[in-house]
Amino acid sequence: MHPTAQLFFKSGILLLLVGMGAGIFMAASHDHTIAGAHAHLNLIGFVVSSVYGTYYALYPAKADGLLPKLHWAGHTLAIVVMFPALAAVLYGRMEFEPIVALSSIVAFLAAVVFAVVVFRPARGGRAGALSPATA
Ligand code: HEM
Ligand code: HEM
Repeated sequence: MHPTAQLFFKSGILLLLVGMGAGIFMAASHDHTIAGAHAHLNLIGFVVSSVYGTYYALYPAKADGLLPKLHWAGHTLAIVVMFPALAAVLYGRMEFEPIVALSSIVAFLAAVVFAVVVFRPARGGRAGALSPATA
């Protein structure tokens, strides 16, 4: 599998473990205050990361170069910062709101980078999507 695809799965599974841990904490404590932070950590951190990783695994020619690495770094940094900041806001610490806003914008910009990767032609030399040569 392409190393950038692996990066998305590695960060994704670590974020899922933290997200499930937060879910178990909420269930055990009967304190669901951070449900929104938990949901977005699991959804952006694991589900969306896995979708990105699956695309790069299926289409390794698109995973070459700087943009996909930038995509991974931006997306992962965004959710790693967003989760604690959003949890703090949900507990009433409104001074963390600008950090939530900034991390949301970084996640959005990472998605814009992914859109560029999807729409631009694949870099030369590598076999394309679902080719037996890429298996
Ligand atoms: C060990 C696994 C998990 C546990 C124990 C858990 C627990 C919880 C709890 C206690 C809530 C709050 C429910 C409420 O207040 O109504 C919740 C909400 C939620 N969880 Fe999880 N969860 C787990 C995994 C996941 C995963 C893997 C996802 C997504 C991929 C997810 C998505 C959500 C969503 C979307 C909400 C609703 C958030 C909202 O209403 O703002 N959870 N979860
Ligand atoms: C930067 C990206 C995102 C931002 C800024 C964002 C923001 C929000 C906001 C403000 C809410 C309402 C929270 C509330 O009413 O308490 C929300 C709810 C929700 N979002 Fe997101 N979201 C983002 C990405 C995503 C993604 C990628 C998914 C799914 C893959 C998702 C799934 C959900 C779900 C399931 C809810 C709860 C809906 C409900 O219980 O009514 N979000 N989001």
